[in-house]
Amino acid sequence: MTPSAPLASGMLLLLSLISPSRACTCAPPHPQTAFCNSDLVIRAKFVGTAEVNQTTFYQRYEIKMTKMFKGFNALGLAADIRYVYTPAMESVCGYFHESQNRSEEFLIAGQLRNGYLHITTCSFLAPWHSLSAAQRRGFTKTYSAGCQACTVFPCSSIPCKLESDSHCLWTDQLLLGSEKGFQSRHLACLPREPGLCTWQSLRARTA
Ligand SMILES: *[C@@H]1O[C@H](CO)[C@@H](O)[C@H](O)[C@H]1NC(C)=O
Ligand SMILES: *[C@@H]1O[C@H](CO)[C@@H](O)[C@H](O)[C@H]1NC(C)=O
Repeated sequence: MTPSAPLASGMLLLLSLISPSRACTCAPPHPQTAFCNSDLVIRAKFVGTAEVNQTTFYQRYEIKMTKMFKGFNALGLAADIRYVYTPAMESVCGYFHESQNRSEEFLIAGQLRNGYLHITTCSFLAPWHSLSAAQRRGFTKTYSAGCQACTVFPCSSIPCKLESDSHCLWTDQLLLGSEKGFQSRHLACLPREPGLCTWQSLRARTA
């Protein structure tokens, strides 16, 4: 619960009334999908204010990375990420950071472009403390085990059917109208045997 959420949604509404065709919409991914599709997955604090580059219309936030979960291959072990870049306008999916708390840690999953970390409103970005223990375990080690062989397959309308043994049907959005359902918070789509993936609990895995 952020106190500024009603204000932000009011502004979004206003923006969408002004320019209905330019609103940014995106379907939130399952966290495993976000992990697998991102170049970089890190935990970081937002330590500075946003700076807008008037040439590129990108803004950057200064961050302090506290942990890297994915991206060692792309960046090398010694690399540090000091800024996160995002479009400066919401209409083109720019991300606006609302929290003023500089000691709050966030999970950020983004793309690497020319050595810079890029995110949009469609990226998976959440306060670390808001993640379930299972999601933290997933980002820390387990989701990566499903990236090569398995696919979280979103089911957004009925009927939807399994198209492959390597898919796991993701029904959270259908059942709850939300991405914060049980499969998102507690499960990962992982190999059970060659060619077969199933939803597996992240709670008590020892592997
Ligand atoms: C804005 O971006 C351009 C192109 O990447 C860069 O050359 C320039 O130095 C940036 N300006 C500022 C003030 O950061
Ligand atoms: C800021 O974040 C830290 C770490 O999550 C938390 O302990 C603290 O209570 C927060 N402070 C405020 C003012 O919300």
